[in-house]
Amino acid sequence: MSESVFRPGLLIGKAAFVTGGGSGIGAGIAKRLAAQGAKVALLGRKAEKLEKTAAEIEAAGGVARCFPADVRSYEELAKAIDAAAEAFGGLQILINSAAGNFLAPAASLSANGFRSVIEIDLCGSFNACRAAFQHLAKQGGSIVSITATQATIPTPLQVHAGAAKAGIEKMTRDLALEWGRSGIRVNAVAPGPIADTEGMARLAPPGVEDGLKKRVPMQRYGTIDEVCEAVTYLVSPAAAYVTGATLLVDGGSSLIGAGPFLELMG
Ligand code: COA
Ligand code: NAP
Repeated sequence: MSESVFRPGLLIGKAAFVTGGGSGIGAGIAKRLAAQGAKVALLGRKAEKLEKTAAEIEAAGGVARCFPADVRSYEELAKAIDAAAEAFGGLQILINSAAGNFLAPAASLSANGFRSVIEIDLCGSFNACRAAFQHLAKQGGSIVSITATQATIPTPLQVHAGAAKAGIEKMTRDLALEWGRSGIRVNAVAPGPIADTEGMARLAPPGVEDGLKKRVPMQRYGTIDEVCEAVTYLVSPAAAYVTGATLLVDGGSSLIGAGPFLELMG
């Protein structure tokens, strides 16, 4: 983890719940929030991934708890969020990072394949927001959902993920409108291609990486740390009047549309 530009201890006294917190960007965010002083709860389906990330957080002096569950089950998720709030004495931050994705042409994608991604990304994010509401509303809080540039840029082989992330960005604005009066800010971060992640391993098969990087205006993939900085900003007092926003962290890649991905269609 690289050093943050935000002051250490920024989030002391806060508790955060991170879906998808066992790996990749979600794990990076959980570690970063913990390093800033927040107690963190990690949720994902595979307990061993959560436990590994929690052990890393604890080894660095942080506090972490694991909640193995599937975001598609409202009951499992609500139980986990309630338990985390109880254990930490409240909940002020929710991060939605759990997602599923793969490359698939729309013409051969099965209805169940489309539905699975919508249910994990969009319904899972709603489930978490809905279950967290009563806790966040107690002292005021902040939600950040991790979306993707596919939400706004038509992208080949990504009809399922694009629709799901577009839904999350719309939901972000709707919830910001309804929940502002409850002291809850609701924002999203839309990363472009991020290095060393499962997401890019799935979207950029070997051989296309160099070509993709050259077409990003900043000529490189982003880092998990760079996504963490944006998330830290949004949950911090620096963003006290920011709600309903989607912050792009994409090196400018959305400025050129789907160009970098068109070659995946062959
Ligand atoms: N191409 C086309 N369809 C695919 C696919 C692929 N690569 N991978 C899965 N599917 C389809 C399956 O065929 C199935 O549809 P069917 O019943 O009509 O055959 C449907 O998606 C559900 O697959 P299943 O494996 O049962 O789903 P799951 O709920 O166990 O897993 C996934 C969800 C498919 C998204 C899985 O890849 C996953 O768990 N991903 C999490 C990690 C991840 O994607 N990280 C990157 C985040 S950006
Ligand atoms: P990742 O490591 O695979 O992260 C996804 C996490 O979600 C995993 O820890 C996974 O754990 C969890 N998850 C998946 N399905 C779940 C379910 N049904 N219930 C609970 N947890 C579930 O991939 P990543 O690339 O870091 O992606 C993280 C986020 O960033 C995603 O929202 C992704 O869309 C977004 N994003 C990534 C990129 C990129 O370049 N990587 C770009 C833009 C946006 P389990 O399998 O154990 O459940």
